[in-house]
Amino acid sequence: TMKGLKDYYQNYFPIGVAIEPGDLRHKEKADLICREFNSLTPENAMKMSTIHPLQHTYRWEQADAIVSFARQHQLKVRGHTLCWHLQTPDWMFEDKQGNKVGRDTLLQRLHDHIKAVVGRYKGQVYAWDVVNEAVADGKEFLRPSKWLEIIGEDYIAKAFQWAHEADPDAVLFYNDYNEISPVKAEKILQLLTKLKSQNVPVHGVGLQSHWAINEPGREQLDSTLARFARLGLAMQITELDISAYSKEHQARERTKNDSIALFTPEKQLKQSLQYKMCFEMFRKYRQYITGVTFWNLSDQHSWLDDFPVKGRKDFPLLFDTTLKRKEAYYGVVNW
Ligand code: XIL
Repeated sequence: TMKGLKDYYQNYFPIGVAIEPGDLRHKEKADLICREFNSLTPENAMKMSTIHPLQHTYRWEQADAIVSFARQHQLKVRGHTLCWHLQTPDWMFEDKQGNKVGRDTLLQRLHDHIKAVVGRYKGQVYAWDVVNEAVADGKEFLRPSKWLEIIGEDYIAKAFQWAHEADPDAVLFYNDYNEISPVKAEKILQLLTKLKSQNVPVHGVGLQSHWAINEPGREQLDSTLARFARLGLAMQITELDISAYSKEHQARERTKNDSIALFTPEKQLKQSLQYKMCFEMFRKYRQYITGVTFWNLSDQHSWLDDFPVKGRKDFPLLFDTTLKRKEAYYGVVNW
């Protein structure tokens, strides 16, 4: 059988991919997933609004489908995510009259949620993104959110404690983006240092790694990984993609009708070199990095097709729109 990413990296770290249950029902995609990857992250299936849409209703079908596919094909599963400011249903923060709930009620609800979800997948989901994106990008330390407003900053510690109680063997991550910004990184490090000093069961830091063809640079990535490595926690690249739009143009560049044409040979080359450099760094930090996950399977569909510009096609992954290996793939596996 043909070697895949996971085989090239078998002495380094598992290689994962974020997927929807529909990808697993699509024969060609399912085969590609099994050939190249040995870890799955549910892209949306375990988020609160999907799995717990009403207070007394859990919808397990989508998450179950992913976990059972993983079991059949011997893939690991990273759970994503238990507590986030997005994709959280409104009912969580409201009583029956639609008034804002108090701290004790919200803590109870968060506890119920974490206990139910982590408990259901105990022994099957080996790692969890317990809290996602709690640190602010602006001048605040923590991101303003309903969690912070109603509970206060200890919602973070509580979430980790409850996840640990529900599955003492699960590896628990704090996950965030903009990790290559020194200011943001400093805040994430401060948060984790504080949690560790309080003996909160946090075991790893997840670096989302939504990057671009021109960012981060080699030195920037090297120093970022070095800083996070010093924490003494596991470190995972949890949502890797390399946008074909350069960072300063990311919000502005628009597609013409023929969007495919915009993934020019020049951009393809830049992207290949960027992917090559990133994986060189990941190999350099192999003692610390315990997983690298791509956010989506191929350029046929990426969440970046709608973000930050709605309807603008992007080409951020290692497989093209027909699921074939791109030039960038070969730079990642040949060293
Ligand atoms: C994205 C999904 O890919 C989209 O399908 C969804 O509409 C929005 O969320 N950071 C995260 C992920 O932690 O959960 C996000 O996933 C991408 C950014």
